[in-house]
Amino acid sequence: FPEFDYRNNELFVESVSLKQIAREFGTPCYVYSRAALTKAYQAFDAAFANREHLICYAVKANSNIAILNLFARLGSGFDIVSGGELQRVIKAGGDPGKTVFSGVGKHVDEMRMALNANILCFNVESEAELIVLNQIAKDMGKIAPVSLRVNPDVDAKTHPYISTGLKENKFGVPASVAERIYQSTQQYPHIRFTGLDCHIGSQLTELEPFLQASHKMLNLLETLQSQGLSIEHLDLGGGLGIRYTDETPPSIKDYVSALCAGTRTVKQRLLIEPGRSLVGNSGILLTRVEYLKHTSARDFAIVDAAMNDLMRPALYDAYHAILPVQQNASEARNYQVVGPVCETGDFLGHDRKLSLNDGDFLAVMSAGAYGMSMSSNYNTRPRAAEIMVDHDQIHIIRQRETIDQLMADERVLPQ
Ligand code: LLP
Repeated sequence: FPEFDYRNNELFVESVSLKQIAREFGTPCYVYSRAALTKAYQAFDAAFANREHLICYAVKANSNIAILNLFARLGSGFDIVSGGELQRVIKAGGDPGKTVFSGVGKHVDEMRMALNANILCFNVESEAELIVLNQIAKDMGKIAPVSLRVNPDVDAKTHPYISTGLKENKFGVPASVAERIYQSTQQYPHIRFTGLDCHIGSQLTELEPFLQASHKMLNLLETLQSQGLSIEHLDLGGGLGIRYTDETPPSIKDYVSALCAGTRTVKQRLLIEPGRSLVGNSGILLTRVEYLKHTSARDFAIVDAAMNDLMRPALYDAYHAILPVQQNASEARNYQVVGPVCETGDFLGHDRKLSLNDGDFLAVMSAGAYGMSMSSNYNTRPRAAEIMVDHDQIHIIRQRETIDQLMADERVLPQ
């Protein structure tokens, strides 16, 4: 993690000491590196070379408006999955005209909001949804731009909870159904079929499933074109994995180059929807050791971040590296790094070799994606602050939540 590195045994983000951030802003907090975010985006953009393309950052990975704004300024489009995410994009200065709307259960209000905002495309996932969208567009006197999301039925070889492109999954329609729908476009006078879309899963560490999926999409595209349909873009979804520990995902450059090579014959604009690979390794979760607890069975490091702050370990048994902010040479123990939440599943890491004292700070690495965006208030824990470092500058991009905010909308009964 080049932007998160040690200087004289102390962990820095860019030119700022994490200890300084912890002391000044408190813990737990998420800390992001502007340089890392920028480099990741530019790696995608550069790898497309002369190919006409649009990178649609998957907002769900991290939806802080400072991060959306940063990507918008770099030219990014967005992949959203709710009306709320659309509002975030707009508030952050993102371009709705570069925004695609995915998801199996779009609400009519969200469809209206997106039609009003003139988004680039709805990625439609069922015939039922298409019928509703056609009706809403008709009522509003609009034409809705649509890609069907095709479920290419390939095995993404990732965690079953985040695999989406198998025919058993709830996502998309089979290619045969897509073909039938594209042949009956006259049934949907308020829809303009502008693209083809797929997304097969997340945290993929091999190229093969991507290539299989893009091959299937290419075949479908050719079939549709031979039937006279004009398609404007091909959206290949997101899903490129990152290195959490010893994974060896393809580089951004190799991934994009492979997609471009696999779709060499496609004249249309290529869209991709990366989330994790843009933000995952650009952020950490900074936490403080509250107590060390040594029992006959185990050594626990009880820290002030918990499963409500970073749900991935509890939910997927995901591995995040945990690094000491201050390295020291004293003897290491095998720690269970756990939070204050009242569940055995509340852990950030098992069996981590660390040398610790009360009050030490730890950095939970690779926490920029699906960290803050999946956090909750379980155990009435205010959500963490978020901080962006830019060279030697520290910007607070989200204040720590207060307990009052948590209860503000609740009411007791009158009697
Ligand atoms: N496009 C669509 C339609 C998606 O459903 C997703 C992610 C993406 C793009 C972005 O995928 P990425 O490039 O980030 O892999 N919470 C899980 C990950 C869930 C991913 C859901 N969809 C985790 O923490 O691992």
